[in-house]
Amino acid sequence: MKTTIIGGGGRVGSCAAFALQCGGVVAEIQLLDANRDMAEGEALDLLHGSAFSSDQLIYAGDYERAADSDIFVITAGLRRQPDESRLDLINRNVSLFNQILDSLLAAGMKRDAIVFVVSNPVDILTQIATRRLGLPWRQVLGLGTQLDTSRFSSFIAEELQLAPTQVRALILGEHGDSMVPIWSSAAVNGLPLEGLPEFTPNFQNRIFARTRGSGAEVIKKKGGAGWAVGITIRDTINAIALDQKRLQPVSSLQQGSYGIRNVCLSVPTVVGRRGVLDQIEIKLWPKEQLGLQNSAKALNEPLRKVGG
Ligand code: LAC
Repeated sequence: MKTTIIGGGGRVGSCAAFALQCGGVVAEIQLLDANRDMAEGEALDLLHGSAFSSDQLIYAGDYERAADSDIFVITAGLRRQPDESRLDLINRNVSLFNQILDSLLAAGMKRDAIVFVVSNPVDILTQIATRRLGLPWRQVLGLGTQLDTSRFSSFIAEELQLAPTQVRALILGEHGDSMVPIWSSAAVNGLPLEGLPEFTPNFQNRIFARTRGSGAEVIKKKGGAGWAVGITIRDTINAIALDQKRLQPVSSLQQGSYGIRNVCLSVPTVVGRRGVLDQIEIKLWPKEQLGLQNSAKALNEPLRKVGG
């Protein structure tokens, strides 16, 4: 599976490349970046480790070489300041993003390729990509609340001293200020967290506040997310490459589940080789359902402004 990372010379793109190299699932990793030297430097550094990692082609490329990619991961874009919301980035990132999409079209990208959007505001950019590329909506996904879900589950595990990979607690909705914690299905190895004595309203508020503020916290401390976002990108790329049909909280164009349509946001989504295989509507607590609808509302106005 040939995977091209656009923005591969940046922090998020190169962390994703490293995660893919450690994973060893995709056959080819091409790094493409407006800053060619950075893409070449990152590709070289990864190549130096090939002999001790996995048998993949890793190189810096360009749009022409990228055209026959099976998966495009778009991580290019400006980062927000700690006091900005992801939606504040819209004016700065949309025109750059449109140029990237037009370059993919001009290069003659394969019409069955999957496009995986990571740049922010991710839900808005996923929607723009869905329209502008003219691909079936199922082939365009955004990282959405995958990263928030990982942060949320990791914090719960840390606080309750549980094994992190056995904790699953979803965040759904917007990858942004209106994200929604899904406590109703939070569990450790299948056991509902609701049954634990520590599961108090205070615990819930504290963990969710920390999760929602995590992006800003990491920007303040080290300039922006890298490792965790790379790992969560890999989780979705593997689901596509291996046709795993895994349920993931990724962003895609909503078709009516939870009463939401014509907006990209995260709901439980079945991901496989053809992209979005299904969007699953499960019974949520009423406040969770309302939270999702609020996310759709929060995204609608900025979408209108960019003609989405
Ligand atoms: C974050 C960025 C990737 O949440 O949106 O860190």
